[in-house]
Amino acid sequence: MCWAWTVATAACLVGSQPAGHALADLEELDLAETCESCLAKGGGWCTTEQRCVEDDVAYCEAESLIGLAGFTDDCGSDEEGQKPHVRPWIDKGVLVSYIHENGTCCGTGIVHRAYHVLEEYTVLLQDGSKEEVKTERWNKRKPAKKKDENSEYHNIEFRYFKPQELTVLSGLRPGDLVQAHFAVKTKDAGEELVKSRRTEPAVVVNTTRTHVAVNFTSDHIVSILPRDFLVDLTNDTLAPGRARHTEL
Ligand SMILES: *[C@@H]1O[C@H](CO)[C@@H](O)[C@H](O)[C@H]1NC(C)=O
Ligand SMILES: *[C@@H]1O[C@H](CO)[C@@H](O)[C@H](O)[C@H]1NC(C)=O
Ligand SMILES: *[C@@H]1O[C@H](CO)[C@@H](O)[C@H](O)[C@H]1NC(C)=O
Ligand SMILES: *[C@@H]1O[C@H](CO)[C@@H](O)[C@H](O)[C@H]1NC(C)=O
Repeated sequence: MCWAWTVATAACLVGSQPAGHALADLEELDLAETCESCLAKGGGWCTTEQRCVEDDVAYCEAESLIGLAGFTDDCGSDEEGQKPHVRPWIDKGVLVSYIHENGTCCGTGIVHRAYHVLEEYTVLLQDGSKEEVKTERWNKRKPAKKKDENSEYHNIEFRYFKPQELTVLSGLRPGDLVQAHFAVKTKDAGEELVKSRRTEPAVVVNTTRTHVAVNFTSDHIVSILPRDFLVDLTNDTLAPGRARHTEL
């Protein structure tokens, strides 16, 4: 399939990322599905978040962490993990909009941390950064003195959104199997990407507000595509009775 890709626009990313990159490893940990596969990878299973994190209490409280750094490494002790898996409506990687604290509409961003038991979520402030939306109180604080900056970090007031404060614009998230158009070759390399007529199955690698990286199932070509290249059924699969929150 890759012959049809336009290299000039970098739509077809051949080859893989450098191995052993710490961040890449972490992201990979994030994608682990079950407690068992997580521990097998050397991660720790965080029961409050129902996801794989680093096996370190810095990432999950010890009493909730299954792994070498937790109180137990027995996956059977996680009752939640034994239940049939229900796909959360809001989850890490989904695109949401939210009303600003000052009442103006609206911010959009990708859900970064999802605490399913607590029903609290953090949202990335912008694409290409791990910075999360913080409270207005925090944004308006007096800046810390230089020497206090490190200790101040631990006091950051993230805005923890409740489900009713978030409107899901797209429920696509890493690991989803989707149908995606691919970019076809054009004579003029400067042109914008041209959408293929047909779609092919692909697995979502990651999401930003505007783009989704997918891994095409047929040839494992990884491509970063505009969102409209993907068949996104979020609004069609809206559960009955589940209104989108900000729509009046
Ligand atoms: C409201 O808050 C948002 C986010 O902090 C900011 O971008 C916007 O300018 C504010 N609007 C008003 C009217 O204060
Ligand atoms: C779903 O509907 C909302 C509101 O009309 C819209 O903003 C959003 O882009 C839609 N999502 C998709 C994936 O089409
Ligand atoms: C998403 O994945 C692609 C391909 O692996 C990578 O190049 C890109 O940096 C990733 N983007 C984010 C926001 O993680
Ligand atoms: C794409 O999928 C293949 C097969 O599952 C996998 O080996 C490869 O690591 C994936 N690439 C990325 C960047 O996720």
